[in-house]
Amino acid sequence: MLAVYVDQFDPDEPLRGLRVAERPEPEPRTGWRTISVRAAALNHHDIWSLRGVGLAAERLPMILGCDAAGVDDGGNEVIVHAVVSSPDWRGDETLDPHRSLLSERHQGTLAQRVSVPARNVVPKPPSLSFEQAACLPTAYLTAYRMLFTRARVLPGQTILVQGAGGGLASALIALGAHAGARVWATSRSEAKRELARALGADAVFATGERLPERVDAVFDSVGAATWSHSLRALKPGGVLVTSGATSGDPTPAGLSRIFFLQLSVVGSTMGTRDELSQLTEFVVQHRIEPLIDRTLPLEEARDGFAAMLTGKLQGKVVFTV
Ligand SMILES: NC(=O)c1ccc[n+]([C@@H]2O[C@H](COP(=O)([O-])OP(=O)(O)OC[C@H]3O[C@@H](n4cnc5c(N)ncnc54)[C@H](OP(=O)(O)O)[C@@H]3O)[C@@H](O)[C@H]2O)c1
Repeated sequence: MLAVYVDQFDPDEPLRGLRVAERPEPEPRTGWRTISVRAAALNHHDIWSLRGVGLAAERLPMILGCDAAGVDDGGNEVIVHAVVSSPDWRGDETLDPHRSLLSERHQGTLAQRVSVPARNVVPKPPSLSFEQAACLPTAYLTAYRMLFTRARVLPGQTILVQGAGGGLASALIALGAHAGARVWATSRSEAKRELARALGADAVFATGERLPERVDAVFDSVGAATWSHSLRALKPGGVLVTSGATSGDPTPAGLSRIFFLQLSVVGSTMGTRDELSQLTEFVVQHRIEPLIDRTLPLEEARDGFAAMLTGKLQGKVVFTV
C-alpha cells in the first residue's frame, strides 16, 4: 500500500528522511481493526518524528501520522483516536505511562490503511466530511482538553492563544469562541491575525505586544518565543496551559512571577477517547468547520510537509487517500 514514512532522521533537514512509497499492509491482530483511510491530517508531531524527536531509531522505517478518518472493516465511518494505551490500562489513556501515539510505536495514519485497537475509533458524524473529521484527533482534541479539562475555561473569561495560525492554535480559537470565552490571539503575521478574527477571536495582537488588560488563561504551544509574554499576560491566580515548544524550551522560566502571582502552569497532551467523542459532538452542535489550509492527495504529501516547515500555514494540511 502507499504510505508516507520516515527511514532516517535529520534534525536540521527533516525532509531528507521522508519517503512516499509502498509499505507492507498492516498485519491482522486480535482485538485490532483495519481502517481504510479516506483522509489523514498532518501535525507538527510528524515534523518532530522526521527530526528524530520522540521516535526511536530502531523503530524505523515508521509510517507517519496520528490523524485519520476512514471506513472500518465493518463498513462504518470512523475517526481514529491516536493515543494507544496498554491493553490492561483503565481510565484516562493519556496518563498511562506506557501509552504511545500512532507513529511512535505502531504504524501511523498517513497510508491507505492503518490498524488500531478496536476501542481507538469513534463514529464519524455524517455532517462532517472525511477531511474535516481527520483534523480532530490531534489538534482539535488537544485544544479541547487544554480548554475544558485542564484550564476549565468558563463563558465570559478572557483567554489568550499564542501563535494564531497553527493547527492547534486555530482549534483553540474556534473552540474557545464557541464556548463563550472572550478570545485574544497573537501572531507574527498580519494575515494570520485576520484569520484569527475570522475564527472568532475578539482581539488580535502582534507576537509579544502589550495587552490592554490581563487574562484568565493563556494557551501556549510556541514555547521559548512566547513564554515570558504568556506569564506577563496572566492575572494573579491565572493559568498557563502548555502543550508544545515549537520554538524551543524557554529560559528563563520566570519562576518569581509564577510564585508571586500564584500562577498555575499546567501541562496538557492529546486527550482521551471520551474527550474525542465529546469534541466531535461539540463540533457538530456548534457547526464548527475545522480550518484547512490545503488538501493534497497522499502522493503529494511532501509538498504538505514542506509547507508546514515554512511556518506560513493557516490551519491544517489534509491528505486524501
Ligand atoms: N502535547 C500535545 O499533545 C500536542 C498536540 C498538538 C500539537 N502539539 C505541539 O504544539 C505545537 C504546534 O503544533 P501544530 O501542529 O499546531 O503546528 P503548526 O501548525 O506548525 O503551528 C505552529 C505555530 O507556532 C507558531 N510559531 C512557531 N514558531 C514561532 C516563533 N518563533 N514565534 C512565535 N510563534 C511561533 C506559529 O504561529 P504564528 O505564525 O501565527 O505566529 C505557528 O502558527 C508543536 O510544537 C506540536 O508538537 C502538542
